[in-house]
Amino acid sequence: MEPEINPWSSNQSLDVEKFFSEFGIEPISQAIADLPELPYFFLRGIVLGHRDYGQIASAIRNRTPFHILTGFMPSGHPHLGHLMVMKEVVWHVQQGGNGYITIADREAHAVRGLSWEKCREYGKEYLACLYALGFEGTTYAQSRNDRLKDLAFEAATKVNFSELTAIYGFGPDTDLAHAESVITQVADILYPQIDRAPAPTLVPVGIDQDPHIRLTRGIAHKLRMFTVEERDGYISVRSKNAPDAALAAVHKAFRGSKKYEGHVDIKGAQCNDVKGKVREIELAHGGFGFFTPSSTYHIFMPGLTGGKMSSSIPESIISFYEPEAAVRKKVMSGITGGRMTLQEQKELGGEPDKCSLYMLNLFHMVSDDNVLLKIRKRCVSGEITCGQCKKETAERVVAFLKDFREKMDACTERIRV
Ligand code: TRP
Ligand code: SF4
Repeated sequence: MEPEINPWSSNQSLDVEKFFSEFGIEPISQAIADLPELPYFFLRGIVLGHRDYGQIASAIRNRTPFHILTGFMPSGHPHLGHLMVMKEVVWHVQQGGNGYITIADREAHAVRGLSWEKCREYGKEYLACLYALGFEGTTYAQSRNDRLKDLAFEAATKVNFSELTAIYGFGPDTDLAHAESVITQVADILYPQIDRAPAPTLVPVGIDQDPHIRLTRGIAHKLRMFTVEERDGYISVRSKNAPDAALAAVHKAFRGSKKYEGHVDIKGAQCNDVKGKVREIELAHGGFGFFTPSSTYHIFMPGLTGGKMSSSIPESIISFYEPEAAVRKKVMSGITGGRMTLQEQKELGGEPDKCSLYMLNLFHMVSDDNVLLKIRKRCVSGEITCGQCKKETAERVVAFLKDFREKMDACTERIRV
C-alpha cells in the first residue's frame, strides 16, 4: 500500500486544495489576520496552510515564549529549494521565537546511505545558509544529541508498526534504522520543549513532510499525563497515565473541584488557567507537559525542469556554490510558461503561474512587489519574450548568489555540528 504522501519520494504533484480538506490542514488567512506584520511568504500565497498556527500568532502578538524549529536532511548540497523554510524560521526568530535547527544525519544515513562524514560536510553548508539569512539559536546534528535520542526512545513507546505502515507505507522489509529516523524526527520536533520549557512550537515544512507532523502531534498528545477539556459548565481534567499523586495535586490546586476515579472536575475557572496549572503539575511529577506542535505548509518552488526541485535531478536545482556559467545555463534552459511561437506569445501572452522562472522570481529573486507585478504584466500582455525575461532572471540569480555566498563565507566560524 502506497500512502498518498510519502516524504521520501521526489516526484509528487499534489492537488493542494484536496490535500488540505482531506488531511485537515487549514488555510492560513484567518490565523495570520492579527499579526502585527506580514512577511512576503504569507502575502504572496507561498505559505498557505497550517495546523494550529493560532497559538503561534498569539505568542507573537502577546510576546510570550514560543519555539520555531525545522530540520534538513544533509543528503546533498543545499539549494534554492531549501531557502523558503529557512526564511520562515529566520522571520519567526525575529518575531521572538527560540530558533532550533536539526541536521537530520540519522535520516540521511539510514534512508539515503550517506556516510557520517558527508552528512557533516553538507550539514555545515545548510547552517551557513541559515546564518547568512540571519538565523540565531540552537543547532545540532541528530547523531550527536543524546538527550534527543532518549526522547526518541520515550516517543517510541507510543507508536507501533501498524501506525508506521498506515502513515508511511512501511512493510516487513523496511529497515529498522528508517523507522528510527522517523521517531528521531518526532523527537526533534518536541526537543525545544525539553531543552527549554514547554511552549507552542512551530514547524514550517513543505507539504511532503505532513506525515511527520501528524505522527508527532499524536505522540505529543499521548505523552501527556492529562487531557483538559471544557465541558458544559465545568472543566474536566482526565488522567491518561498520571500517577495518583499528580491527580491529587490537580484536585488540591482548585478549590471546590471534585475528584473522581481518574478525573477531576473544576467549576468556575478559566480553561487556559487550568491548562497552565495542570502543565505545571505534570512537570513537577516528571511529565513532559508538551504543547501539541503547530505547522505551516508552503507550496514548492518548481524545479527548473518542472516538477519538484530535487538534488536527484541536478538540472532542476541551483545550489549556492555552482559556477556562474552553469547557473546561467540552467536558468536559460528552464521551463517557462511561454507559447509555442513568438507570434502566439505576442497575441496570447505567457502564463507566469506555469513558469518555473516566474516562480523563482516570486519566491526569492524579487523583493519589491511593484517590480514583480511589472514582470507579470509584461509576461501576460506578451510584451516581453521568454528569452529576454530569462536573461533578466539569470542576472538576478547570479547577483543574488554572489551576495549570498559572501554572507555564507562570513559565518563559517559560527557553525557547530
Ligand atoms: N525529514 C526532513 C527532510 O527530509 C528533515 C527533518 C528532520 C525535519 N527533523 C525534522 C524537518 C524536524 C522538520 C522538523 O528534510
Ligand atoms: Fe516565464 Fe518570463 Fe516567459 Fe512569462 S515571459 S512565461 S515569466 S519566462
